[in-house]
Amino acid sequence: MARSALLNVMVQAAMKAGRSLSRDFGEVQNLQVSMKGPGDYVSQADRKAEDILFAELSKARPGYAFLMEERGVVEGDDDQHRWIVDPLDGTTNFLHGIPIFSISIALERQGQLVAAVIYNPAMDELYTAERGGGAFMNDRRLRVAGRSKLTDCVIGCGVPHLGRGQHGNFLVELRNVMAEVSGVRRLGSAALDLAYVAAGRMDGFWETGLSAWDIAAGLLLVREAGGFVSDMDGGQDMLEAGSVVAGNEVIQRALLKAVKKPLSAR
Ligand code: IPD
Ligand code: CA
Ligand code: CA
Ligand code: CA
Repeated sequence: MARSALLNVMVQAAMKAGRSLSRDFGEVQNLQVSMKGPGDYVSQADRKAEDILFAELSKARPGYAFLMEERGVVEGDDDQHRWIVDPLDGTTNFLHGIPIFSISIALERQGQLVAAVIYNPAMDELYTAERGGGAFMNDRRLRVAGRSKLTDCVIGCGVPHLGRGQHGNFLVELRNVMAEVSGVRRLGSAALDLAYVAAGRMDGFWETGLSAWDIAAGLLLVREAGGFVSDMDGGQDMLEAGSVVAGNEVIQRALLKAVKKPLSAR
């Protein structure tokens, strides 16, 4: 498959950062780790991967702005373009030797998501999408799952840490969803959760309390795989709200309804 020059730049950067993560994953016990907030760890591996992505993407596209998990906002001369980057999504898994983690890179042009790369180096799975060009995993075209009944579905979620505000709501949401679906999963990387929805491995996914870098690339992947996404209010402010509900057209709607059901309506 011939990739665009833009996607090539993003893939090369992700692969290089992926090699760094793979090396560190092999000796995870030697990494320096610190805590940023409740349940939010950062290690040398996160920072090294981010340095590589920052260097590679700045070299290939000078002047583009950045929003990165560890660096935060980096202003650019170009006010049309912004990279949204999570250098290691799934740090907790990574630090426990669980091979479910990823690098997530999205590009916004004039506020619109136009290109996305998510890479899981431990499984060598590379997800790519460009606006209007479809979504792919390792060059295979992706399509969201076609199930139309929530009772047949496997749904992914995120579990907000006890110290975070969304925890109480989540327990209600989880009870609601569990009552209606065939199974619930918690992968531990929101970027991969959305990639799995795009790939048809999971039928849907919801999570709140997220940041733009967790989901920007995954949102485009799901859309380009024929799926639908919204925030928890059914709007399209996922990046600002830090929440997402994803699935095919029917399941996305049904999942949003299930998640939002008041306790008294059960
Ligand atoms: C986390 C992962 C996780 C989600 C957390 C995120 P990080 O990102 O995406 O699945 O539940 O809310 O913070 O910190 O590992 O990059
Ligand atoms: Ca983090
Ligand atoms: Ca993340
Ligand atoms: Ca991260």
